[in-house]
Amino acid sequence: MKRMKYRAFIDETPLRVFQDGILTWYQSFGRDLPWRHTRNPYHILVSEIMLHQTTVKTVIPVYLAFLDRFPTIRHVFDAPLDDVKRITDPLGYKIRGQWLHAIAGVVVRRYGGEWPDTMEGLLDLPGVGRYTAGAILSFAFGHDAPIVDTNVKRLLGRYFGVDYQDPRAETRHHLWALSEAVIPFGHGPTFNQALLDMGAVICTARRPACLICPVAAACRQLQGGGEGRAAETAAPYLLTGREH
Ligand code: ADE
Repeated sequence: MKRMKYRAFIDETPLRVFQDGILTWYQSFGRDLPWRHTRNPYHILVSEIMLHQTTVKTVIPVYLAFLDRFPTIRHVFDAPLDDVKRITDPLGYKIRGQWLHAIAGVVVRRYGGEWPDTMEGLLDLPGVGRYTAGAILSFAFGHDAPIVDTNVKRLLGRYFGVDYQDPRAETRHHLWALSEAVIPFGHGPTFNQALLDMGAVICTARRPACLICPVAAACRQLQGGGEGRAAETAAPYLLTGREH
């Protein structure tokens, strides 16, 4: 319901261009990554924890090695923390090993090895924030749950003219609500993977590839608005209640 309400404030044409352009682009240019062949919540969790602050290229061999050594969450639970860290620590950001081990403890002890499939249940796991919980809900359980990482924030901010670098809580809420509202109904998992790829491959931080961007035609940033302006004045596609 919240989502429908919010969507009523997004102008229909740029929304359609965005949804269709991104899904079509992803069909041809989406990356074939190992965690995109599974809906196993444990595999999704491992991939997302590893992808935090680390590139896809670096993560792939470590992800495969980890699942080879720990095929299920029970294997993580049964192993000493040091065995887990031996695989994850070389990625840097060494807290990952602790999180995986602690999550295994909760999932096995509290849930008997079954995964919680609600936002609240997932957020209750150690080290799991809104992004990772959304990724598991979407990629493992098929929900239209939003995910907002740095890349997605930048893509949405530029396209819809929201100042994605604004640290204020209201702008962050705005971007989360926007990321939920733009998901085409029933296409959450594919659309979210497509957003991640668009943010990583096309709408990059320093040199965005606007010339080959599938949604450039309606991009607010390209039309001269957006970044650096206050969110409430730089959102021409988010129509105000006054006008509609
Ligand atoms: N970065 C974070 N999650 C990702 C995913 N599922 N695919 C590609 N890059 C990602």
